[in-house]
Amino acid sequence: MSLNTPRHIAIIMDGNGRWAQMQGMKRVKGHEAGAEVVRNVTKYCANHKEIERLTLYAFSTENWKRPKLEVEFLMKLLDRYLQKELSTYMENNIRFQPIGDLSGFSRPLLTTIETVEEKTKHNNGLVQSLALNYGAKDELVRAVNTLVNNKIKVTETTLNDALDCPQQVDLLIRTGGDHRLSNYLLWQAAYAELFFTNTLWPDFSTTELETVIQQFMTIERRFGGLK
Ligand code: IPE
Ligand code: IPE
Ligand code: MG
Repeated sequence: MSLNTPRHIAIIMDGNGRWAQMQGMKRVKGHEAGAEVVRNVTKYCANHKEIERLTLYAFSTENWKRPKLEVEFLMKLLDRYLQKELSTYMENNIRFQPIGDLSGFSRPLLTTIETVEEKTKHNNGLVQSLALNYGAKDELVRAVNTLVNNKIKVTETTLNDALDCPQQVDLLIRTGGDHRLSNYLLWQAAYAELFFTNTLWPDFSTTELETVIQQFMTIERRFGGLK
C-alpha cells in the first residue's frame, strides 16, 4: 500500500441486531457474530503496518437506553472478548487502549479492561481502541474540565491532547446503512473521509475493508487548501 494509506481508521459497527433478526434469531446473537468480525478486522489492520490506529465504536453513552438484558449481554460479551483476545493482542503486537468514560462500568469488567490494557502496553504495532461508554460530547466535556481544573488555557492543541483519543481520524466507516455519526469522534473526524455501507456489521469482511481503503487512497485530501 502507498503512503496514502489511512493511518487512523474509525468504524461505527452498526447492524448487529438487524442481522440477527433477519435470520429469526435474538438481537444478541448479532453482537456475538459481530465480535468475530472485530477480531478479523483488527488482525487485518495489525498486518498493514501503515495503519497505526483502529478505533471501534462498541458501546455509546446512549446505548444504556437499551433493554437491561441486552446491555447486560453486551457487558458480558465485552468481558469474554477481552479475556479471550489477549492472546490475539500479544501474537499480533497490538496495544489495546480503550476510550470513553470507563467509570460507568462494573468493577469486574473494569478489572478485565485494565488488565488487558496493562498487559498490552508495550506492544508497539497497531493500537486497537475500543470506544466503551463513549460519546464525543462527553469526551469533549471531560477534556475541557481537565484543562479548566488544571488552569490550562484552551487551545486546539491542549484540547486535542486532553481528549481520550488524540489522533485525527483519516477514514471513518459506518456499516448498517445509516448516514449519521451517532456522537462518535466529532472532533477527531473534522477532516475524515466518510464511507457508509449497507452491509450489516456481522457481514462486513476484510475484503470490503480492503475495497474501502483502495477507494480512500484515490481521494485527494485538500484540508481546505488547493490542489
Ligand atoms: C451495533 O449494532 C452494536 C451496538 C450498538 C452495541 P446494533 O445493536 O445497533 O444493531 P441494529 O442497528 O439495531 O441492527
Ligand atoms: C452506534 O450505533 C453505536 C455503536 C455502534 C456502538 P447505534 O445503533 O447505537 O446508533 P443509532 O441509535 O442508530 O444512532
Ligand atoms: Mg444500531
